[in-house]
Amino acid sequence: MKKICIVGISGKLGQYMAQHALDRGFEVVGVCRARSVGKLDKFKERITVVPGATNDREVIKKAVAGCDGVLVVLVPWGVKQYSSGTAQAVLDHAPPAARLIFSCGWHITRDGQDVYSRTFITLVKIVTWLTRLLRVAEIDDQVEACKRIFASDTRWTVVRGSDLEEGESQGLPVWSRHVGDPILESNITRRVDFALFMVAAIENDELIHEAPAIVGCRTPSALAIKTGR
Ligand SMILES: NC(=O)c1ccc[n+]([C@@H]2O[C@H](COP(=O)([O-])OP(=O)(O)OC[C@H]3O[C@@H](n4cnc5c(N)ncnc54)[C@H](OP(=O)(O)O)[C@@H]3O)[C@@H](O)[C@H]2O)c1
Repeated sequence: MKKICIVGISGKLGQYMAQHALDRGFEVVGVCRARSVGKLDKFKERITVVPGATNDREVIKKAVAGCDGVLVVLVPWGVKQYSSGTAQAVLDHAPPAARLIFSCGWHITRDGQDVYSRTFITLVKIVTWLTRLLRVAEIDDQVEACKRIFASDTRWTVVRGSDLEEGESQGLPVWSRHVGDPILESNITRRVDFALFMVAAIENDELIHEAPAIVGCRTPSALAIKTGR
């Protein structure tokens, strides 16, 4: 049986990933802030929780020990290098053979070949500036986290989510290497399916050292490519 760790398990994405992982028969260890442990009551006795900040190196070291895969919800909250601290702790402490799967948004680019609309670029700039000013979040620290992941020789995948919505699963999202590719045009994915893609990536070695940008498999742009329209 595979043992996996979900870092940031108490959030929406984390809980969906926990359910998919349990459905696959994986043993699940989760990391979340102590105050959020209660959000995981529905998984009681089916998962092990290590309470603590996800950028606490000792917490991560304990949680990822012996894991075959680590799923990481990268979030930039606060002005304390939370994303890069979380990513670095996982990169340093996960077993060398483990699959490491990180979540982020389309604003992360690996090779600079992504094509963004002017509106998107402006929005990211404004949100980055405003959230830093208000000391709510450091979007540029999520960028730093991903730079470190891309430079790492661990078995990583960075999954770049489109806009998200709630709703029933539609199945495994489709992906492309670059934002701007026609298949991604619809820019919407069900959060439950984002989680499915993350969990499935653990067993998909073709995604090692890839930064797939994903979109729902039943969105118009995905269906148009599938049917050759
Ligand atoms: N939201 C979107 O539209 C969107 C779009 C594309 C990609 N993504 C990516 O998808 C992933 C999940 O995003 P989500 O928006 O769906 O969020 P989410 O799954 O609800 O997760 C939010 C996480 O942030 C933690 N958190 C919240 N406030 C915090 C604080 N002040 N300090 C430390 N941790 C805090 C939460 O922990 P607690 O449970 O302890 O609060 C939880 O683990 C992220 O990697 C994001 O970049 C999101």
